[in-house]
Amino acid sequence: MAALLEVGRLTVRFGGVSALSDIDLAVREGELVGLIGPNGAGKSTLFDCLTRRCEPQEGSLRLGGEEVTRLPAHLVAGRGIARTFQNTALFPSLSVRENVMTGAHRHGRAGFWAAALGRAVAEEHRMGAAADVLLDRFDLTRYADHPAGGLPYGVTKRVEIARALAGGPRLLLLDEPASGLAPGEVPALADLIRQIHYERGVTIIVVEHHMDFVLALCRRIVCFELGRKIADGPAGSVRQDPAVISACKGMAW
Ligand SMILES: Nc1ncnc2c1ncn2[C@@H]1O[C@H](COP(=O)(O)OP(=O)(O)OP(=O)(O)O)[C@@H](O)[C@H]1O
Ligand SMILES: [Mg+2]
Repeated sequence: MAALLEVGRLTVRFGGVSALSDIDLAVREGELVGLIGPNGAGKSTLFDCLTRRCEPQEGSLRLGGEEVTRLPAHLVAGRGIARTFQNTALFPSLSVRENVMTGAHRHGRAGFWAAALGRAVAEEHRMGAAADVLLDRFDLTRYADHPAGGLPYGVTKRVEIARALAGGPRLLLLDEPASGLAPGEVPALADLIRQIHYERGVTIIVVEHHMDFVLALCRRIVCFELGRKIADGPAGSVRQDPAVISACKGMAW
């Protein structure tokens, strides 16, 4: 199958720090890829480049053949790229349902509010119904009218994923979806993401330090260390790669 995402020679520097150096990566339509690596490896920086929160010095990003390297950030969602954040970034005073609905609007936050004021009732109903389907799928219905602020952490992680899915993305970027979860919650989240991937056919890159979570989910694993890609291949071989084991020592395999 054709590559949905093509990252070519991507380089990002912050002052003297090379967050990403010459990264090449191709992800096929429908793949579920695990991205691992120690702290500071550049995993989130890759997501930041793809969602245009960060400007690469060199290299290119193509989605579905279209160059998106310099795309204005507010157009990213419209191109079908959605993400969650390592530290959850919900609107705390909005309800869970409203948070999920913000994700349904493909033109960003300002666009959501502008449209919310004048949107036809039918459109509002359609988006609400779509949000309700996601709330049900993510076992969030009972929290639908609760403000997102103050909810248990594991719940907010699920709300973030539901919100990212609400826009019907082609590429979903999950940044440490299992971090901070109670150990008992981790396998259930892996199951949920696997099912969503299967049902929606969405291409997913998932960053995680929980190796059992990555191994349960992903057939292909990519490993970064200090901004460089040091491994990319079937999970079984990457997990046995001495360079990966050395880079990721301290992580539970
Ligand atoms: N906005 C920024 N300004 C300056 N340096 C940054 C910025 N964002 C990231 N960095 C640096 O770039 C490098 C890569 O960071 P990044 O957050 O991408 O790593 P990571 O692999 O996501 O790590 P972690 O597993 O801890 O989340 C680090 O050295 C980090 O300090
Ligand atoms: Mg990170």
